[in-house]
Amino acid sequence: MADTVHYSELGLVNTRDMFKKAVGGGYAIPAYNFNNLEQLQAIITACVETSSPVIVQVSKGAREYANQTMLRYMAMGAVQMAREMGSDIPICLHLDHGDTFEICKSCVDSGFSSVMIDGSHLSYDENVAVTRKVVEYAHPRDVTVEGELGVLAGIEDEVSAEHSSYTKPEEVEDFVTKTGVDSLAISIGTSHGAYKFKLKEGEEVPPLRFDILEECQRRLPGFPIVLHGASSVVQEYVELINRYGGKMEGAVGVPEEQLRRAAASAVCKINIDSDGRLAVTAKVREYMAQNPGEFDPRKYLGTARKELIKLIKHKNEAVLGSAGRA
Ligand code: 13P
Repeated sequence: MADTVHYSELGLVNTRDMFKKAVGGGYAIPAYNFNNLEQLQAIITACVETSSPVIVQVSKGAREYANQTMLRYMAMGAVQMAREMGSDIPICLHLDHGDTFEICKSCVDSGFSSVMIDGSHLSYDENVAVTRKVVEYAHPRDVTVEGELGVLAGIEDEVSAEHSSYTKPEEVEDFVTKTGVDSLAISIGTSHGAYKFKLKEGEEVPPLRFDILEECQRRLPGFPIVLHGASSVVQEYVELINRYGGKMEGAVGVPEEQLRRAAASAVCKINIDSDGRLAVTAKVREYMAQNPGEFDPRKYLGTARKELIKLIKHKNEAVLGSAGRA
Protein backbone atom coordinates (compact mmCIF):
# COMPACT_ATOMS: atom_id res chain seq x y z
CA MET A 1 0.00 0.00 0.00
CA ALA A 2 1.50 3.33 -1.08
CA ASP A 3 1.95 5.98 1.59
CA THR A 4 -0.20 9.10 1.44
CA VAL A 5 1.29 12.19 -0.17
CA HIS A 6 -0.36 15.52 -0.93
CA TYR A 7 0.26 16.85 -4.43
CA SER A 8 1.48 20.20 -3.14
CA GLU A 9 4.51 18.38 -1.71
CA LEU A 10 5.32 17.27 -5.26
CA GLY A 11 5.13 20.79 -6.68
CA LEU A 12 1.93 20.07 -8.63
CA VAL A 13 -1.16 22.27 -8.91
CA ASN A 14 -4.87 21.48 -9.33
CA THR A 15 -6.88 22.71 -12.32
CA ARG A 16 -8.82 25.56 -10.68
CA ASP A 17 -6.61 28.50 -11.65
CA MET A 18 -5.66 27.04 -15.01
CA PHE A 19 -9.32 26.71 -16.00
CA LYS A 20 -10.31 30.13 -14.73
CA LYS A 21 -7.67 31.74 -16.94
CA ALA A 22 -8.43 29.48 -19.93
CA VAL A 23 -12.18 30.15 -19.87
CA GLY A 24 -11.56 33.89 -19.69
CA GLY A 25 -8.75 33.80 -22.24
CA GLY A 26 -10.42 31.82 -25.01
CA TYR A 27 -7.91 28.97 -25.12
CA ALA A 28 -7.72 25.40 -23.81
CA ILE A 29 -5.28 23.67 -21.47
CA PRO A 30 -3.68 20.63 -23.11
CA ALA A 31 -4.19 17.30 -21.34
CA TYR A 32 -1.67 14.80 -22.66
CA ASN A 33 -1.69 11.14 -21.62
CA PHE A 34 1.55 9.43 -20.66
CA ASN A 35 2.69 5.92 -19.73
CA ASN A 36 6.45 6.12 -19.95
CA LEU A 37 9.54 8.25 -19.49
CA GLU A 38 9.97 9.45 -23.07
CA GLN A 39 6.37 10.65 -23.35
CA LEU A 40 6.60 12.60 -20.11
CA GLN A 41 9.96 14.14 -21.06
CA ALA A 42 8.52 15.20 -24.40
CA ILE A 43 5.38 16.74 -22.85
CA ILE A 44 7.37 18.73 -20.30
CA THR A 45 10.02 19.86 -22.78
CA ALA A 46 7.43 21.01 -25.33
CA CYS A 47 5.32 22.80 -22.71
CA VAL A 48 8.35 24.54 -21.18
CA GLU A 49 9.55 25.59 -24.64
CA THR A 50 6.12 27.00 -25.51
CA SER A 51 5.50 28.32 -21.99
CA SER A 52 2.21 26.44 -21.70
CA PRO A 53 0.38 25.22 -18.60
CA VAL A 54 -0.15 21.46 -18.83
CA ILE A 55 -2.18 18.58 -17.48
CA VAL A 56 -0.33 15.28 -17.61
CA GLN A 57 -2.86 12.52 -17.33
CA VAL A 58 -2.87 8.85 -16.55
CA SER A 59 -5.59 6.39 -17.48
CA LYS A 60 -6.53 3.28 -15.53
CA GLY A 61 -4.52 1.25 -18.05
CA ALA A 62 -1.48 3.50 -17.56
CA ARG A 63 -1.67 3.00 -13.78
CA GLU A 64 -1.59 -0.73 -14.32
CA TYR A 65 1.18 -0.51 -16.92
CA ALA A 66 3.54 1.86 -15.13
CA ASN A 67 2.61 1.52 -11.42
CA GLN A 68 0.87 4.34 -9.64
CA THR A 69 3.73 5.09 -7.21
CA MET A 70 6.20 5.20 -10.08
CA LEU A 71 3.91 7.65 -11.90
CA ARG A 72 3.75 9.91 -8.86
CA TYR A 73 7.53 10.15 -8.69
CA MET A 74 7.73 10.65 -12.43
CA ALA A 75 5.38 13.64 -12.07
CA MET A 76 7.54 14.95 -9.23
CA GLY A 77 10.57 14.52 -11.49
CA ALA A 78 8.73 16.37 -14.26
CA VAL A 79 8.18 19.40 -12.00
CA GLN A 80 11.86 19.37 -11.06
CA MET A 81 12.92 18.97 -14.67
CA ALA A 82 10.83 22.01 -15.70
CA ARG A 83 12.42 24.06 -12.91
CA GLU A 84 15.89 23.04 -14.00
CA MET A 85 14.97 24.23 -17.47
CA GLY A 86 14.35 27.62 -15.84
CA SER A 87 10.57 27.43 -15.98
CA ASP A 88 7.74 27.20 -13.48
CA ILE A 89 4.87 26.27 -15.79
CA PRO A 90 1.88 24.97 -13.82
CA ILE A 91 1.76 21.15 -14.00
CA CYS A 92 -1.27 19.15 -12.95
CA LEU A 93 -1.28 15.35 -12.49
CA HIS A 94 -4.75 14.08 -13.43
CA LEU A 95 -6.47 10.71 -13.36
CA ASP A 96 -8.18 10.15 -16.71
CA HIS A 97 -11.42 8.10 -16.66
CA GLY A 98 -11.44 6.83 -13.10
CA ASP A 99 -14.46 4.56 -13.04
CA THR A 100 -14.87 3.92 -9.31
CA PHE A 101 -14.69 5.94 -6.10
CA GLU A 102 -11.85 3.67 -4.87
CA ILE A 103 -9.58 4.44 -7.84
CA CYS A 104 -10.18 8.18 -7.44
CA LYS A 105 -9.49 8.01 -3.69
CA SER A 106 -6.32 6.03 -4.25
CA CYS A 107 -5.07 8.67 -6.73
CA VAL A 108 -5.95 11.56 -4.40
CA ASP A 109 -4.05 9.78 -1.61
CA SER A 110 -1.00 9.13 -3.76
CA GLY A 111 -0.42 12.70 -4.95
CA PHE A 112 -2.69 13.38 -7.92
CA SER A 113 -3.93 16.97 -8.01
CA SER A 114 -7.03 16.29 -10.11
CA VAL A 115 -9.22 13.26 -10.83
CA MET A 116 -11.91 12.37 -13.31
CA ILE A 117 -14.77 10.21 -12.15
CA ASP A 118 -16.38 8.80 -15.24
CA GLY A 119 -19.83 7.62 -14.27
CA SER A 120 -21.17 8.05 -17.79
CA HIS A 121 -21.70 4.27 -18.07
CA LEU A 122 -24.11 4.41 -15.09
CA SER A 123 -27.67 5.67 -14.81
CA TYR A 124 -27.99 9.43 -14.29
CA ASP A 125 -28.76 9.07 -10.57
CA GLU A 126 -25.89 6.64 -10.01
CA ASN A 127 -23.55 8.96 -11.92
CA VAL A 128 -24.61 11.85 -9.66
CA ALA A 129 -24.12 9.72 -6.52
CA VAL A 130 -20.62 8.43 -7.30
CA THR A 131 -19.45 11.82 -8.61
CA ARG A 132 -20.75 13.54 -5.47
CA LYS A 133 -18.90 10.98 -3.32
CA VAL A 134 -15.60 11.65 -5.13
CA VAL A 135 -16.08 15.43 -4.81
CA GLU A 136 -16.72 15.05 -1.07
CA TYR A 137 -13.44 13.18 -0.70
CA ALA A 138 -11.36 15.33 -3.07
CA HIS A 139 -12.41 18.89 -2.21
CA PRO A 140 -11.31 18.92 1.44
CA ARG A 141 -7.88 17.91 0.06
CA ASP A 142 -8.05 20.68 -2.57
CA VAL A 143 -8.07 18.17 -5.42
CA THR A 144 -10.26 19.17 -8.38
CA VAL A 145 -12.78 16.80 -9.96
CA GLU A 146 -13.97 16.30 -13.55
CA GLY A 147 -17.29 14.55 -14.21
CA GLU A 148 -18.84 13.31 -17.44
CA LEU A 149 -22.31 13.43 -18.96
CA GLY A 150 -23.01 11.66 -22.23
CA VAL A 151 -21.07 8.72 -23.63
CA LEU A 152 -18.13 8.82 -26.04
CA ALA A 153 -17.74 5.81 -28.30
CA GLY A 154 -14.37 4.15 -28.72
CA ILE A 155 -11.79 2.57 -26.47
CA GLU A 156 -9.88 4.51 -23.83
CA ASP A 157 -7.71 1.76 -22.39
CA GLU A 158 -10.21 -0.17 -20.31
CA VAL A 159 -13.17 2.14 -20.57
CA SER A 160 -14.90 1.31 -23.80
CA ALA A 161 -18.26 2.02 -25.34
CA GLU A 162 -19.63 0.81 -28.63
CA HIS A 163 -22.16 3.58 -29.12
CA SER A 164 -21.99 7.22 -28.24
CA SER A 165 -24.82 9.30 -26.86
CA TYR A 166 -24.66 13.06 -26.95
CA THR A 167 -24.80 15.03 -23.72
CA LYS A 168 -28.31 16.27 -22.94
CA PRO A 169 -27.88 19.99 -22.20
CA GLU A 170 -31.02 19.98 -20.02
CA GLU A 171 -29.14 17.79 -17.51
CA VAL A 172 -25.95 19.80 -17.07
CA GLU A 173 -27.06 22.40 -14.50
CA ASP A 174 -28.68 19.80 -12.28
CA PHE A 175 -25.58 17.56 -12.51
CA VAL A 176 -23.11 20.31 -11.72
CA THR A 177 -25.22 21.64 -8.84
CA LYS A 178 -25.83 18.23 -7.28
CA THR A 179 -22.27 16.96 -7.61
CA GLY A 180 -20.14 20.08 -7.11
CA VAL A 181 -17.71 19.07 -9.90
CA ASP A 182 -15.09 21.59 -11.08
CA SER A 183 -15.37 20.71 -14.77
CA LEU A 184 -17.59 18.65 -17.02
CA ALA A 185 -16.69 16.42 -19.96
CA ILE A 186 -19.40 16.41 -22.62
CA SER A 187 -20.08 14.31 -25.68
CA ILE A 188 -20.49 16.30 -28.91
CA GLY A 189 -19.38 13.82 -31.54
CA THR A 190 -15.76 13.00 -30.75
CA SER A 191 -14.65 9.50 -29.75
CA HIS A 192 -11.53 7.88 -28.35
CA GLY A 193 -8.92 6.23 -30.55
CA ALA A 194 -7.70 6.54 -34.12
CA TYR A 195 -10.92 5.63 -35.94
CA LYS A 196 -13.31 8.39 -35.04
CA PHE A 197 -15.46 8.59 -38.15
CA LYS A 198 -16.39 6.04 -40.80
CA LEU A 199 -16.12 7.98 -44.03
CA LYS A 200 -17.10 6.84 -47.49
CA GLU A 201 -14.90 7.72 -50.48
CA GLY A 202 -14.75 11.51 -50.89
CA GLU A 203 -16.72 12.20 -47.71
CA GLU A 204 -15.56 14.86 -45.23
CA VAL A 205 -15.44 14.61 -41.44
CA PRO A 206 -18.82 15.80 -40.09
CA PRO A 207 -18.80 18.88 -37.86
CA LEU A 208 -18.90 18.39 -34.11
CA ARG A 209 -22.21 19.25 -32.42
CA PHE A 210 -21.34 22.85 -31.57
CA ASP A 211 -25.03 23.47 -30.94
CA ILE A 212 -24.88 21.15 -27.91
CA LEU A 213 -21.69 22.81 -26.69
CA GLU A 214 -23.28 26.27 -27.04
CA GLU A 215 -26.38 25.19 -25.16
CA CYS A 216 -24.25 23.77 -22.31
CA GLN A 217 -22.26 27.00 -22.26
CA ARG A 218 -25.50 29.04 -22.11
CA ARG A 219 -26.80 27.00 -19.20
CA LEU A 220 -23.47 27.04 -17.33
CA PRO A 221 -21.91 30.44 -18.03
CA GLY A 222 -18.17 30.50 -17.39
CA PHE A 223 -18.10 26.83 -16.34
CA PRO A 224 -15.14 24.74 -17.60
CA ILE A 225 -16.10 22.20 -20.26
CA VAL A 226 -13.79 19.32 -21.24
CA LEU A 227 -13.41 17.75 -24.68
CA HIS A 228 -12.26 14.14 -24.82
CA GLY A 229 -11.32 12.24 -27.95
CA ALA A 230 -9.67 15.28 -29.48
CA SER A 231 -6.82 13.79 -31.51
CA SER A 232 -6.64 14.90 -35.11
CA VAL A 233 -5.17 11.52 -36.13
CA VAL A 234 -2.36 13.24 -38.02
CA GLN A 235 -2.37 11.72 -41.51
CA GLU A 236 1.38 12.14 -41.98
CA TYR A 237 1.88 9.59 -39.15
CA VAL A 238 -0.78 7.21 -40.43
CA GLU A 239 0.96 7.25 -43.83
CA LEU A 240 4.39 6.58 -42.27
CA ILE A 241 2.96 3.71 -40.24
CA ASN A 242 1.38 2.18 -43.34
CA ARG A 243 4.55 2.74 -45.41
CA TYR A 244 6.69 0.87 -42.90
CA GLY A 245 4.66 -2.27 -42.41
CA GLY A 246 1.72 -1.03 -40.35
CA LYS A 247 -1.92 -1.42 -41.23
CA MET A 248 -4.11 1.48 -40.22
CA GLU A 249 -6.70 1.93 -42.90
CA GLY A 250 -9.36 4.58 -42.54
CA ALA A 251 -7.84 6.14 -39.42
CA VAL A 252 -9.31 9.63 -39.11
CA GLY A 253 -9.73 12.25 -36.38
CA VAL A 254 -11.05 15.70 -35.56
CA PRO A 255 -9.83 18.44 -37.95
CA GLU A 256 -7.70 21.11 -36.26
CA GLU A 257 -10.07 23.84 -37.36
CA GLN A 258 -12.87 22.35 -35.25
CA LEU A 259 -10.57 22.02 -32.25
CA ARG A 260 -9.56 25.69 -32.60
CA ARG A 261 -13.22 26.65 -32.51
CA ALA A 262 -13.81 24.49 -29.41
CA ALA A 263 -10.73 25.91 -27.65
CA ALA A 264 -11.98 29.46 -28.18
CA SER A 265 -15.29 28.57 -26.45
CA ALA A 266 -16.09 27.22 -22.97
CA VAL A 267 -13.93 24.18 -23.69
CA CYS A 268 -10.92 24.71 -21.47
CA LYS A 269 -9.35 21.21 -21.42
CA ILE A 270 -8.63 19.21 -24.55
CA ASN A 271 -7.57 15.57 -24.20
CA ILE A 272 -4.98 14.17 -26.58
CA ASP A 273 -3.61 10.64 -26.45
CA SER A 274 -3.88 8.92 -29.83
CA ASP A 275 -1.86 11.53 -31.76
CA GLY A 276 1.06 10.96 -29.38
CA ARG A 277 0.79 7.20 -29.83
CA LEU A 278 0.75 7.62 -33.61
CA ALA A 279 3.81 9.89 -33.60
CA VAL A 280 5.81 7.37 -31.53
CA THR A 281 4.71 4.37 -33.59
CA ALA A 282 5.39 6.13 -36.90
CA LYS A 283 8.90 7.19 -35.91
CA VAL A 284 9.82 3.86 -34.34
CA ARG A 285 8.62 1.98 -37.43
CA GLU A 286 10.53 4.32 -39.73
CA TYR A 287 13.70 4.10 -37.63
CA MET A 288 13.55 0.30 -37.40
CA ALA A 289 13.05 -0.03 -41.16
CA GLN A 290 15.89 2.36 -41.98
CA ASN A 291 18.33 1.07 -39.33
CA PRO A 292 17.90 -2.69 -39.23
CA GLY A 293 21.16 -3.26 -37.34
CA GLU A 294 20.36 -0.88 -34.48
CA PHE A 295 19.38 -2.34 -31.13
CA ASP A 296 19.76 0.56 -28.68
CA PRO A 297 16.28 1.63 -27.49
CA ARG A 298 17.61 5.15 -26.87
CA LYS A 299 18.07 5.53 -30.61
CA TYR A 300 14.54 4.71 -31.75
CA LEU A 301 12.81 6.05 -28.63
CA GLY A 302 14.94 9.19 -28.84
CA THR A 303 13.74 9.76 -32.40
CA ALA A 304 10.15 9.21 -31.29
CA ARG A 305 10.58 11.62 -28.38
CA LYS A 306 11.90 14.33 -30.70
CA GLU A 307 8.84 13.97 -32.93
CA LEU A 308 6.53 14.07 -29.92
CA ILE A 309 8.07 17.38 -28.82
CA LYS A 310 7.42 18.80 -32.29
CA LEU A 311 3.81 17.58 -32.27
CA ILE A 312 3.03 18.97 -28.80
CA LYS A 313 4.57 22.35 -29.57
CA HIS A 314 2.40 22.55 -32.67
CA LYS A 315 -0.75 21.67 -30.67
CA ASN A 316 -0.02 24.29 -28.01
CA GLU A 317 0.87 27.01 -30.50
CA ALA A 318 -1.48 26.45 -33.40
CA VAL A 319 -4.48 24.50 -32.09
CA LEU A 320 -5.17 24.97 -28.38
CA GLY A 321 -3.72 28.45 -27.99
CA SER A 322 -2.11 27.57 -24.64
CA ALA A 323 1.40 28.70 -25.69
CA GLY A 324 2.59 31.73 -23.74
CA ARG A 325 -0.14 31.30 -21.09
CA ALA A 326 1.91 29.72 -18.29
P1 13P B 1 -7.87 10.59 -28.32
O1 13P B 1 -7.98 9.10 -28.45
O2 13P B 1 -8.64 11.30 -29.38
O3 13P B 1 -6.48 11.05 -28.23
O4 13P B 1 -8.58 11.00 -26.94
C1 13P B 1 -7.92 10.83 -25.72
C2 13P B 1 -8.79 11.09 -24.55
O5 13P B 1 -9.87 11.65 -24.65
C3 13P B 1 -8.31 10.66 -23.24
O6 13P B 1 -9.28 10.79 -22.26
